[in-house]
Amino acid sequence: MLALVTGANGMLGQDLCPILEDEGYDVIETDIDTLDITNKVSVNDYIMSLKPDIVFHCAGYTDVEKAEIENEKVRLVNSIGTQNIAEACSKINSTLVYISTDYVFDGEKTSPYTPNDKPNPINFYGLTKLMGENAVQKYCNKHYIVRTSWLYGIHGNNFVEKMISLNSDTPIKVVNDQIGCPTWTVDLVNGIIKILNEPFGIYHICGSGSTSWYEFAKEIGVNVLPCKSCDFKQIAKRPQYSVMDNNKICRNWKSALKDYMFLRTNFK
Ligand SMILES: NC(=O)c1ccc[n+]([C@@H]2O[C@H](COP(=O)([O-])OP(=O)(O)OC[C@H]3O[C@@H](n4cnc5c(N)ncnc54)[C@H](OP(=O)(O)O)[C@@H]3O)[C@@H](O)[C@H]2O)c1
Repeated sequence: MLALVTGANGMLGQDLCPILEDEGYDVIETDIDTLDITNKVSVNDYIMSLKPDIVFHCAGYTDVEKAEIENEKVRLVNSIGTQNIAEACSKINSTLVYISTDYVFDGEKTSPYTPNDKPNPINFYGLTKLMGENAVQKYCNKHYIVRTSWLYGIHGNNFVEKMISLNSDTPIKVVNDQIGCPTWTVDLVNGIIKILNEPFGIYHICGSGSTSWYEFAKEIGVNVLPCKSCDFKQIAKRPQYSVMDNNKICRNWKSALKDYMFLRTNFK
């Protein structure tokens, strides 16, 4: 099976590619330097010439704060870029796996979001990721839309690494009123591999259970104090509650974090 990965140099892509190879895929790794997804002609020519059986579309504009300012750029990457990929996949009847986000939801619910719940993004990043989902559904029949959340991994800037780098005798203030599901990139990849045997459609793949950013930081083992979202000046609104029902695809977030902490301490 020939697999093409977009955003292969990103946090998720760098964990996805070697695991796919272990699973027996031949993997073509692409990122902005080799395949700019916003260039429709390049995307079309590249995918038509290589004819991958499956495309794992991990590329994205992922800076939630900057997305509120660089509206046009984020729309071009997350929405138009994803449409370009979806149209090309459709032409060669390739399967498309699109990585989306819990930020497509508004956070007004009080029980875990299911794939059937209606999205209603409250920030620009979430809106453009939803536009990407819509493009995938419209242009490519053979698709998996994978919504994940609060991702961390060994290869990227993320909450876990930020907390560890800031840790000191002075407690770090961390918000205690946003609830979600932390997800280790490796667990996400394993979850994606599992669903490839399931029907096409939308899946939620995130750590089981839920927590606040504050409780998450405490579990990482850093010196923290709880605070409220309104104590922070942030441009982008965040959903207060973005817990997703993952249909038991991934294990509990605390167990994943324990393994991640062991790995980063012993192998980084
Ligand atoms: N991180 C999270 O908490 C989280 C949560 C839910 C969903 N997701 C989704 O999961 C996916 C992977 O996230 P991640 O954390 O691995 O993101 P990441 O580390 O920011 O990786 C994204 C990659 O896409 C590349 N890229 C940006 N614009 C591109 C373009 N025009 N053409 C081709 N590649 C381009 C980036 O390159 P540059 O670095 O050079 O820009 C980067 O290598 C994204 O789709 C994201 O929306 C992430």
